[in-house]
Amino acid sequence: MTEKKIPTHLAIILDGNGRWAKKRNLPRLMGHRAGLRKLEDMVRLVKREGIRYFSVYAFSTENWNRPQMEVTGLMSLFRYYIRRKVDEIKSEGARIRFCGRKDRLPEDLLAQMKWAEDYTKDEKILDFILCINYGGRAEIIDAVNKLIAENPQTPVTEQDLRKHFYLPDVPDPDLIIRTSGELRLSNFWLWESAYSEYYFTDIHWPDFDEAELKRALENYAGRERRYGGLKS
Ligand code: IPE
Ligand code: IPE
Ligand code: MG
Repeated sequence: MTEKKIPTHLAIILDGNGRWAKKRNLPRLMGHRAGLRKLEDMVRLVKREGIRYFSVYAFSTENWNRPQMEVTGLMSLFRYYIRRKVDEIKSEGARIRFCGRKDRLPEDLLAQMKWAEDYTKDEKILDFILCINYGGRAEIIDAVNKLIAENPQTPVTEQDLRKHFYLPDVPDPDLIIRTSGELRLSNFWLWESAYSEYYFTDIHWPDFDEAELKRALENYAGRERRYGGLKS
C-alpha cells in the first residue's frame, strides 16, 4: 500500500465567524470567540494527522477597516486566547509563531506574543502559526524594503526575497483551506501559494470539525501536483 499523501504545511483561512453568529442572532464577537475556541481542537487534530506546519489566517492587514469595536474585541480575544491556551498548545509539542506586521498591534499584545513564542520555542512536533496583521502584499513590500536597505545595487533572486519574508524557514503551504464559501485568497500567502492546492467548503469556521478536516485531506491526497512539469 502506498503511503497517504499528507500536506507538510496546512493553511486555513478562518472565514465565516460573523455569518455563524448572525445565523444564531448573536453579536459578531461571539462568532469570533467560537472561532478561536475551534482552533484548540484543530491544533490537536492537525498534529494527529502528522502535519508539520499549521498556519491560520486570523486577522488581515485589511481587517483594520472593520468597526473599531470589532477590532478592539478581536485584539482582546487574541490576548485571552494566548494567555489561556499557551500551556495546552505547548503540551501538544507545538511551537507558537506569529506572522505579520508588528505595527498597529497593541503593545501589551505584542509583548504577550513574544512571550508565547519564547515559551514554546523548543517544541518540535508542530509549528502553529497565527497570522495576525498579515497581508501577502505587505510581506512582499517589507521584504523588498529590507533587501534595498541591505544592498541597493545587486539584482535580487527569488531566494534573496524569500530570505526576507516573515518566516523564511517555513515551507510554502501545500494545502490552503477556506471556509464559508468565498472563493478567494484575500491577501493570504500571496507569494507562497504559487503552487498550493486549494480546498473550499461552505461550512462556517466555528462549525468546521474533524470530519471536514478529513474530507479536505482525503481530497488533497488524490491531487496530482505537477509544478508545471509533465504527469509522473
Ligand atoms: C473571519 O470571520 C475572521 C476574521 C476575518 C477576523 P469573518 O469575521 O470574516 O466572518 P464573516 O465573513 O463576516 O462571516
Ligand atoms: C480573510 O477574511 C481574512 C481572514 C480570515 C483573517 P475576510 O472576511 O477579511 O475576507 P474578505 O473581506 O471576505 O475578502
Ligand atoms: Mg469574512
